[in-house]
Amino acid sequence: MTPNILITVSSTATADLETSACLIPVLAGEPMQPALATLSGQTGLPEAVLESAFRAGRNEVLPVYRPDGSVVLLLGLGGQPAVLDWFRVTRKFFVGWREKLPASLTIDLRHLTSPVISDAVLESIGLGVRQGGYDLRLYQTGKAEPANLYNKEPRLTLLTSPDWQETATAVMARTQVLAEAQLAMLDLMNAPANHKTPQTLADWAVASGQAHGYPVRVLDQAQLEAEGLGALLSVSQGSDVPPVLIIGDYSPGTPGPWPTVGLVGKGVTFDTGGVSIKGAANMHLMKSDMGGAAAVLGAVEVAARLQLPVRVIGIVPSTENSTDGRSTKPGDVVTAYNGKTIEVIDTDAEGRVILADGLSYLLANYQPDYLIDLATLTGSVITTLGYHAAGLFTPSDTLASQLAGAADQSGEKVWRLPVWDEYSEDLKSDVADVKNFSGKPLAGAITAAKFLEVFTASHPAWAHLDIAGMAFADSEFGHQKNATAFGIRLLTTFLRHLVK
Ligand code: BES
Ligand code: MN
Ligand code: ZN
Repeated sequence: MTPNILITVSSTATADLETSACLIPVLAGEPMQPALATLSGQTGLPEAVLESAFRAGRNEVLPVYRPDGSVVLLLGLGGQPAVLDWFRVTRKFFVGWREKLPASLTIDLRHLTSPVISDAVLESIGLGVRQGGYDLRLYQTGKAEPANLYNKEPRLTLLTSPDWQETATAVMARTQVLAEAQLAMLDLMNAPANHKTPQTLADWAVASGQAHGYPVRVLDQAQLEAEGLGALLSVSQGSDVPPVLIIGDYSPGTPGPWPTVGLVGKGVTFDTGGVSIKGAANMHLMKSDMGGAAAVLGAVEVAARLQLPVRVIGIVPSTENSTDGRSTKPGDVVTAYNGKTIEVIDTDAEGRVILADGLSYLLANYQPDYLIDLATLTGSVITTLGYHAAGLFTPSDTLASQLAGAADQSGEKVWRLPVWDEYSEDLKSDVADVKNFSGKPLAGAITAAKFLEVFTASHPAWAHLDIAGMAFADSEFGHQKNATAFGIRLLTTFLRHLVK
């Protein structure tokens, strides 16, 4: 677990002189003069010298030491940084400098004014600082406790102009809650399958519910059988670890009415492909096939801790997808919770099969105004959008623009793809109500969405987010792809802006 870091906000002119390090973010193209004048005043170096040594390129750092040993660091943001850039640059800086920084640090934002600075930019800075302490070495033995900023109960001061102080204080409080959920989900996602089973996700959810006062129910294998979640059970039947259905249910303490949002997250703790087995080359990455679950579990916790005025039901069908004599075989026909039959053409298209039960269960037992599922669902969405955006699928223009707005504000990008009925043709089965794969290498992310739609009872405000390219990514945390906690910030932003 990464220790948390307390950030206080101040607009006192001399606050930066009370700490032994001061970080000044600088934009290229904007007049650098105010930042340079501050630095020049503090170090005695002429502004012209500083100006030739620092261009404010993205991720550029210029440390200038004062005679008393304290340091002022200019951090380049490049030109016109987006919300995502602010987050990335801040996080990368802290990961790179955390071994060298003293335990008291100021971030000086006084020279930045609207529209450069905003609620979303402040949130990015706060998340970047907190995620900057993340340590990926979960299972390394004999590692020296790093003598870094995050182990010293750091005192961090965010220095803003007086008119930003109140907003910044509120944003930092909210950001702490968001970051804690993200950091917990980074650990869960980075955990390999021998350290993470469906029960591990359930245990996390139950502990979170107890800590933050919202009910969590976990259906075990016997209950899943009794209740008829045949689609989830069919994926799990080749695994030695039992499946679960996790239900987190947060309601505001204030009198309603509030909107009800149903969230469903794919929780495959490892995806071998099943009998339609995957190639070996990248199979180890499939420990991350519970990225949708991480987004949902994290978002429910954040909603509860922030007491958002919206009811949030988070459902996570969780299982391994393994190979065994008892595994589901291609051609098998299984019955989902809503009674519909599925012909399993490819056992590697397992995510949509377990989501069929998750969506059906949510719709049958709750009355959500909005229904959103998130899943690391297809390689096809990566072919389509690469590693820069999640695929967004929804029949609702209104919900599409709400989610696109949340994406803009959170930096967690989504891009809408069509859900036209023409794409359903290829999912017609001769023997069952629907088949789980068209058998064609075409429009795979879209046909996956069309399969899910069968289990949404035509809910008018349903959206599916295919986050396969976004949940696991290259980053400064390590050499291999690792967790991003994508979706928690997006969903939290969406929920904060919902009003009935
Ligand atoms: N979990 C995978 C999708 C995935 C691929 C996530 C790469 C992250 C990175 C999913 O269960 C899967 O195997 N999808 C298949 C579906 C196909 C068999 C119809 C795919 O996309 O190849
Ligand atoms: Mn699969
Ligand atoms: Zn999968």
